[in-house]
Amino acid sequence: MLAVVPPPVTVRVPAKVNLHLAVGDPRADGFHELVTVFQALSLTDEVTVAATDEPGLEVYGEGEGTVPTDATNLAWRAARELAAYAGRPDDDDPKVRIVLRKGIPVAGGMAGGSADAAATLVGLASLWKLDITRDELAAIAGKLGSDVPFALYGGTALGTGRGEQLVPVLSRHTFHWVLAFDHKGLSTPKVFGELDRLRAEGKPPRVGAHTPVVEALASGDPRQLALLLGNDLQAAAVSLRPGLRRTLRAGVNAGALAGCVSGSGPTCAFLCVDAQAAVEVAAELSGAGVCRTVRVAHGPVPGARVVGGDDAP
Ligand code: C5P
Repeated sequence: MLAVVPPPVTVRVPAKVNLHLAVGDPRADGFHELVTVFQALSLTDEVTVAATDEPGLEVYGEGEGTVPTDATNLAWRAARELAAYAGRPDDDDPKVRIVLRKGIPVAGGMAGGSADAAATLVGLASLWKLDITRDELAAIAGKLGSDVPFALYGGTALGTGRGEQLVPVLSRHTFHWVLAFDHKGLSTPKVFGELDRLRAEGKPPRVGAHTPVVEALASGDPRQLALLLGNDLQAAAVSLRPGLRRTLRAGVNAGALAGCVSGSGPTCAFLCVDAQAAVEVAAELSGAGVCRTVRVAHGPVPGARVVGGDDAP
């Protein structure tokens, strides 16, 4: 009798921007205590998982040729973790082919690698027909990386701890963004390290409380939110990549309400008053010669979801 091979599963997963990112002091485990407000954006990766006798990982789009395709890729680690959780006999080397189609910049501060890991968890849970809730997936996700649980849930959320402990935040209306991708990525540990170094020298100032940001999200007014965007990692990213100052200025000169470095950078995110303004800002910023490429996106959007299906956890 022939074994029935399940059809491949494709999952779409969003990038994130941090509307507010307050970084505390380093902890004993090397991580920093965070208070952050995440928003999931319509800039996405697509991850396809398929059962196979020849396991492997392929990458297309952003980062093609530079993203590792071996067992060090976070998506592959996600497959191993889920296989172990499910007690599958192939947990060391899961019999799956994982294809990443990337629109999220690599090492860009938008959690692209975390998104791929979250999508792999959702895809394999569906492919393997696991009886697992999204909260159970989030517990596995938290072991893989600080931003992986948020990529599962999407929307807008307050993150604490390493960023992995999440509470949903009410966000009215859709916010419109322009994203400026840089020529090269930045290493997240290096950016956190640079912030520690800057702070040892007695600067820079820290962002305020997150509550006004939460209130602005509830009001749905982009002008109010624009005044409150704040990221403690921005000074560190700019210190390592001084050209970002010019990019941030160019976005505001092009008509954005405000701009900030996204997470650990170097992607810059510009909040615009509406969809039309975002298209205009993107066009002008493209011509300013300050970045590799420009994208328009909106948020919030849902987390990792099977494409064309709603039966996933
Ligand atoms: O959790 P993740 O693997 O994404 O973190 C990457 C790196 O970023 C960590 O190794 C650490 O250097 C830094 N980090 C941190 N504090 C956090 C999150 C990340 O110092 N809360």
